[in-house]
Amino acid sequence: MNEEQRLQGQQVKEKNPTDKKSEKDYSKYFETVFLPPSLKEAKKRGKEEVAYHNDFKIDEQLRGMGSGKKFYIRTYGCQMNEHDTEVMAGIFMALGYEATDTVEDANVILLNTCAIRENAENKVFGELGHLKHLKQQRPDLLLGVCGCMSQEESVVNKILKTYNHVDMIFGTHNIHRLPEILKDAYMSKEMVVEVWSKEGDVVENLPKVRRGNIKAWVNIMYGCDKFCTYCIVPYTRGKERSRRPEDIIQEVRHLAAQGYQEITLLGQNVNAYGKDFEDMNYGLGDLMDEIRKIDIPRVRFTTSHPRDFDDHLIEVLAKKGNLMDHIHLPVQSGSTDVLKIMARKYTREQFLELVRKIKAAIPDVALTTDIIVGYPNETEEQFEETISLYREVGFESAYTFIYSPREGTPAAKMKDNVPMEVKKERLQRLNAVVNELSAEAMKKYQGQTVPVLVEGESKNNPEILAGYTNKNKLVNFKGPKTAIGKIVNVKITEAKTWSLNGEMIEEHQLAEVE
Ligand code: 5AD
Ligand code: SF4
Repeated sequence: MNEEQRLQGQQVKEKNPTDKKSEKDYSKYFETVFLPPSLKEAKKRGKEEVAYHNDFKIDEQLRGMGSGKKFYIRTYGCQMNEHDTEVMAGIFMALGYEATDTVEDANVILLNTCAIRENAENKVFGELGHLKHLKQQRPDLLLGVCGCMSQEESVVNKILKTYNHVDMIFGTHNIHRLPEILKDAYMSKEMVVEVWSKEGDVVENLPKVRRGNIKAWVNIMYGCDKFCTYCIVPYTRGKERSRRPEDIIQEVRHLAAQGYQEITLLGQNVNAYGKDFEDMNYGLGDLMDEIRKIDIPRVRFTTSHPRDFDDHLIEVLAKKGNLMDHIHLPVQSGSTDVLKIMARKYTREQFLELVRKIKAAIPDVALTTDIIVGYPNETEEQFEETISLYREVGFESAYTFIYSPREGTPAAKMKDNVPMEVKKERLQRLNAVVNELSAEAMKKYQGQTVPVLVEGESKNNPEILAGYTNKNKLVNFKGPKTAIGKIVNVKITEAKTWSLNGEMIEEHQLAEVE
């Protein structure tokens, strides 16, 4: 295989390394035959235009492959992965498989993995360990690893060496090749590894089986070109590629016609939407402006990068209607110096200015964020700046993380003088502030009547229904099961730190209130 083929991505079949007799044989074999995914190659952004395909087809010969068989997919990580799972489920169904939610029943098990932090990866390795017993009992079971971890060379090497009960490994750019990968795994009984280091094109007509019929994910773009110094995503998900607006709008119209109540537009950095179009000047603001005219009650988007959040988008969001007044805006740190080392390309002041603009246009907006504490060499003062920024913005909630070094990223090479106990203690201090401000935000709901999209029964009590407000606050309340899937009015009777309790107001009662 030449270098060009490698960059294009090639299917590489790996004989089970345990077939080899000695370590020496094995390493020789490993070097010459196996070409692992390469983070270095993944970093090289191709200049060639993205090609859009509408010609995904399942080979007639493979259609009955799954008849009488069941698949199980366990999803780790973000919404992007959840949506990829929906696509893979669609492909499995098209191949004749049935879904199951127990591993014991499954003929094929896939782990759709996340690489964002080390503990996400450890969970997957733990699960692979557990599944070994099942595989020993049922050798005909197919076990696959896909998602972001498959894009990392070190992970693929570790699976080859230590988890050779795995039958297939495929990457985030190879999902549409699932039928062929399955076929190869059945036929060869050798570990099938198919990971393209560089992103593929955009394939439009992949089948999907969505989880639920109330809320839906809609991909608007793939990949990330920001290369924040801590983040593995630009390597595992490839360069930014936007879907064409007409394809997105068609999908949203279709979801509206099917009765979906809420959509969330998805991308690693949705604010960069459209920057890769060479034939037009069209961004997220333009897209949202068209989507708000579609008859679907709620529209959200995630995740935003502050740097690309432009005035046009703010102007469009201020028109409200079905555009929800909740924005998730990851800041990561409140210190300009740390932001610089993170390569976030904005300062504390620029972030605060963006927040000021958003609040001026949408005064009652709810802002939430992501924060990393304990970045290499983060000082106490720099950490305090994060706390003060959090308060100054008045975030209503946050996902908070201790920095986790990711092999191949620039930050992983940085020397770090912050001990783990200090990082943990900072996380606790930050979380105390996050809880305090969340409770404050919740208190404002006390006594108010708010629209809630009812998703189903509460996890802990089937007598209670659960749903979310426009600003994405969880509400538990008593109500009839017929309310599930609808937006109903709920009077809030109790505000807790992370959720609200309430009573459903029937429509006739509401008329009396007005
Ligand atoms: N360590 C800790 N947190 C990280 N995130 C991304 N990479 C890392 C890392 N290496 C967090 C960021 C991002 C969220 C999805 O995960 O806060 O916004
Ligand atoms: Fe990672 Fe988000 Fe930065 Fe992209 S913008 S590199 S996905 S943190």
